[in-house]
Amino acid sequence: MLQLDNITFDYPDGTTALRNINLTLDAGKKIAIVGPNGSGKSTLMRQLNGILQPTSGTLSYKGQAVDYSRKGLQALRQSVGLVFQSAEDQLFATTVEEDIAFGPLNLGLDRADVKARIATVADALGIEALLARPIHALSGGQKMRVAIAGVLAMHPQLIVADEPLASLDMAIQQQVLNLFDALVQDGRTVIIVTHDLDQAYAWADEVIVLADGEVQQQGAPEAVFADQAILDLCGWEKPWVLAVSQQMGLTPAAKSRADLLARL
Ligand SMILES: Nc1ncnc2c1ncn2[C@@H]1O[C@H](COP(=O)(O)OP(=O)(O)OP(=O)(O)O)[C@@H](O)[C@H]1O
Ligand SMILES: [Mg+2]
Repeated sequence: MLQLDNITFDYPDGTTALRNINLTLDAGKKIAIVGPNGSGKSTLMRQLNGILQPTSGTLSYKGQAVDYSRKGLQALRQSVGLVFQSAEDQLFATTVEEDIAFGPLNLGLDRADVKARIATVADALGIEALLARPIHALSGGQKMRVAIAGVLAMHPQLIVADEPLASLDMAIQQQVLNLFDALVQDGRTVIIVTHDLDQAYAWADEVIVLADGEVQQQGAPEAVFADQAILDLCGWEKPWVLAVSQQMGLTPAAKSRADLLARL
């Protein structure tokens, strides 16, 4: 659905953050992007909805090169919704409800439709009780859920979320992952950045490893995380469920803790 051909990106100060990125991001997939701090993950996320334009190379959506005019970007952003790494960069309205309403109102939906979308996403993210609250009075995890709600209310085909889970407690992380799963079952694509390799292993259909602005690997989590050269390059421990599965000679390897326990 989204394709990156030979994308390189330099920041204005000359820092090269992405080098020769070639990726195909398919519909109906759960994709996790992992990589050390400063490896270019957020820069890559910001390419996907056109906030940053490649210095060279091409981003295409459904086979068409992205048009970076105002109109072209508006169209891209209806299809690709980005949740920023810092919710502070995303939320700007006074109240939660106004913030979530902003995108759908801009799409030209009428008030009743906007209300219905707000109710649906607020329910899905468990933030109904926060709708009238001022943004500045929310906790970090609450702000992140509002930021996700605002993106989902636009009904994008691709949801790109930069470390959406980092500030959320375990129960809410699971709730958000379940919500993402439901979107993927509906044929949409969810791309998340995470530093939690166990989570990437258990959740993703596909893992992309970035290091030093380059894609080092793209593939099934079982294969990517079994690659000792990649683990060494990034200074990572193998995801725990995979390590135990291999130690026990389980084939195929267990996918989750529950799966592993059931096979002990
Ligand atoms: N506005 C900027 N101007 C110049 N260089 C930048 C800018 N933003 C990021 N960089 C540099 O680009 C590289 C990639 O940064 P990026 O934020 O994409 O990394 P990341 O993988 O998201 O890291 P993290 O895990 O810490 O969020 C880093 O070397 C960073 O210092
Ligand atoms: Mg980042």
